[in-house]
Amino acid sequence: MAPAGNRRVQVAIIGAGPAGMFLAHLLHEARVDCVVLELRSREHVVSRVRAGVLERTTVDLMKRLGLSERVTREGLVHGGTTLAVNNDPFHVDFDELAVGAAITVYGQSEVMKDLNRAADERGIEVIYEAADVQPQGLDSDTPWVTWKSPSGLHRVDCDFVVGCDGFHGVSRGCIPREVLKIFERTYPFGWLGLLADVPPCNHELVYANHERGFALASMRSPTRSRYYLQCSLQDRVEDWSDDRFWEEFALRIGDCFAQRITRGPSFEKSIAPLRSFVCAPMCWGRLFLAGDAAHIVPPTGAKGLNLAAADVIVLADALRRFYAGGSRSGIDGYSDRALARVWKAERFSWWLTNLTHRFPHMDGFDRQMQIAELEYLRSSPAARSAFAENYVGLPLEI
Ligand code: APR
Ligand code: PHB
Repeated sequence: MAPAGNRRVQVAIIGAGPAGMFLAHLLHEARVDCVVLELRSREHVVSRVRAGVLERTTVDLMKRLGLSERVTREGLVHGGTTLAVNNDPFHVDFDELAVGAAITVYGQSEVMKDLNRAADERGIEVIYEAADVQPQGLDSDTPWVTWKSPSGLHRVDCDFVVGCDGFHGVSRGCIPREVLKIFERTYPFGWLGLLADVPPCNHELVYANHERGFALASMRSPTRSRYYLQCSLQDRVEDWSDDRFWEEFALRIGDCFAQRITRGPSFEKSIAPLRSFVCAPMCWGRLFLAGDAAHIVPPTGAKGLNLAAADVIVLADALRRFYAGGSRSGIDGYSDRALARVWKAERFSWWLTNLTHRFPHMDGFDRQMQIAELEYLRSSPAARSAFAENYVGLPLEI
């Protein structure tokens, strides 16, 4: 029994990023009541610039939750992508894997806007600017979460706490150190990203392996380009004027696409480090972790948001079954089930990063291995099909 005066929900969710908000909608659909506690402001969460590639599973989730009106209208459906090495691009057609296989280009900020707008309409409660969020009693059947706001200290009692609070959140640290295994790889470079209101240099994405480092041509719409350059971790954004960026990008992306670059002023430029990270298990007592709280992928392949969505599909189904009939099998199996898929996406993101980036200590042999693997992809339908299978997203059952 909750002490008199305390608020109670079935599930308390920490973090209102994609993982937390997709989960809140899934629980709402399953008639499981929840509250979302978010450290930052709503504007801050929406305006963070992140990747913009949705797998079929993620678009299907948006459809299922009645959130797909805009993504269906405005999302750019791509049936392939281009890889380039030695200034010589080749195309990977996702149809080689399965007819109709595709990804949808739609920015994470747009996904967040759709999630938040529908949350307002559905009465899903999100408490923004919740400071010092603390999950407690996680090894009991009656956990609770406290947080602070300008009006004081607050508490909500619950059956389960879900940590959707990203890599730097508070939840993962609640799992005892002797229980939690960490697997990690950092990379000796970063990505410098630029957003500009200019038409993209290609109708699909281009991943370029260049002697001077990796480059990626992506987009947000037919009039907005999102371009990236591999850069040194010592670089600062101020070191990269727009002119320097455009010169270097034209060089690395290769002659064929360089001719079609429209240069223009950037309105966002930032540097992000790259990391592969997995913690296991993704649960402890009455705490579950989902999304970046449990795993990070390097951005190559844009799997982060999609993995977060896949985690919460599995978790919401487990919680729905628990509340429908008291079965614990779903919640007990959540970590193993989610991790099985997470590791496959970790492998693909790590592989694609290794294949396309210049590492500081690479020798001639390492470089030839990259070239040979890319040439193998160019010449082998089987290799391209395996690439496409991972790139468009593995089925949820795997
Ligand atoms: N208390 C409450 N909220 C917190 C706390 C905390 N102590 N710490 C972090 N948060 C919030 C962050 O402000 C953020 O809004 O948790 C949210 C986590 O969101 P993301 O970092 O976006 O992580 P996730 O929802 O798992 O999404 C995974 O989306 O943002 C991308 O790079 C990310 O692609 C990845 C995917
Ligand atoms: C992006 O558009 O931001 C993006 C696209 C593909 C990636 C990474 C990032 O692999």
